Amino acid sequence: MAEEHSGTHPADPAGGNASRPWQTLSSGFEQARAREDSLDRLVEWPAQRTLLGDVAGLAVLDAGCGNGTKIAQLAVEGAGPSVGVDISGNFIEAPPGVELIEGDLSDLGAVPGLNGRRFDRILFLQSFGYAADGVKALQTAREMLTEDGFILLTRTQPIRYAIERSEQNGTSLGEEYFATESFAYRHRNWDDQVTLTKRPYTMSDLLNTFSAAGLWIEIAVEPQMPDEAAGRYPHKQAVMNKYLGILMFKLRPIPAR
Ligand SMILES: C[S@@+](CC[C@H](N)C(=O)[O-])C[C@H]1O[C@@H](n2cnc3c(N)ncnc32)[C@H](O)[C@@H]1O
Repeated sequence: MAEEHSGTHPADPAGGNASRPWQTLSSGFEQARAREDSLDRLVEWPAQRTLLGDVAGLAVLDAGCGNGTKIAQLAVEGAGPSVGVDISGNFIEAPPGVELIEGDLSDLGAVPGLNGRRFDRILFLQSFGYAADGVKALQTAREMLTEDGFILLTRTQPIRYAIERSEQNGTSLGEEYFATESFAYRHRNWDDQVTLTKRPYTMSDLLNTFSAAGLWIEIAVEPQMPDEAAGRYPHKQAVMNKYLGILMFKLRPIPAR
């Protein structure tokens, strides 16, 4: 889901750490996502759904699926045998045709039951940044695609973190955008006792990761709030105006020459 932009603050690395942060965070972010004014509901899921197109009969793998709500929704819409993987292991009851598996998206091929399986659509929705090695995670996912398969990957605009960090540190946007040191980060809207570690990234980093993994961008989208939703939730339009939102990429394997 979107990392809602209204309640972040820098973390004190000395305190509030959880050894398995997502096990603790998961209920907080699922509650935030379920709110009727969440950016996930207003902007992201509709745009993700549009990019996925008709999923009837398709095998879908949702890497970093949260509690499994999105993959369950795709099953309701006719997707074929599908799988959600998340490290939190905090899942809804899986509907028929959907398996929800506790596992690490860093190496999907090593997740129990996934070795040798192929998928028509592989999703990394606001989860790719947690891979131990992004290139390796995407290479593995690419190998798991069917012939006409694609990856749908969404990531927060890196400028958002640069704005927040520049405000917090009294630095310039450029200094933070091009910073390379990981930073500790807590999310007040989800659970401000849990610290996540974030690696800064630039647009070039992201695009070069796709190339290094042997993927090309069929389409990139920067979804915005529909006018009607902006009228109903001006505080969320203000968040979008300040932090820009997220980036979405439809990625396909570069054909062998
Ligand atoms: C921001 S949430 C996004 C959830 C969901 N994809 C969505 O769009 O609502 C990030 C998710 O990634 C999961 N996650 C974090 N690190 C992971 C890892 N190494 N392997 C699998 N899942 C991970 C978290 O538990 C969490 O559910």
